[in-house]
Amino acid sequence: MKVTVTTRDGAEHTVEAREGLSLMQNIRNAGLDELQAICGGSLSCATCHVYVDALPEGGGLLERSRDEDDLLDACDELTDTSRLSCQIVLGPALDGMRVTIAPEY
Ligand code: FES
Repeated sequence: MKVTVTTRDGAEHTVEAREGLSLMQNIRNAGLDELQAICGGSLSCATCHVYVDALPEGGGLLERSRDEDDLLDACDELTDTSRLSCQIVLGPALDGMRVTIAPEY
């Protein structure tokens, strides 16, 4: 599956992604290190903040958990499309999704 990631310089990167891994892990595995993900996905840093720009037709995301909401609330650049990428597990319904890495936390 593929995911398109826009980095902070505006460049688009379409990367091969592995199902079953988080979006954060896939972005990091693609070498896009500006997504820091300092806590390694344990939902305690918010440095994996992304904006979900588009989902594939018929695709959808699970609702944010309360813990994800609480962490995002601390981010200056919060928008309606904000998500913590470590909390999104990729599967076929997300093939082709597009995200932008949020400004540095
Ligand atoms: S990697 Fe720390 S909250 Fe996602």
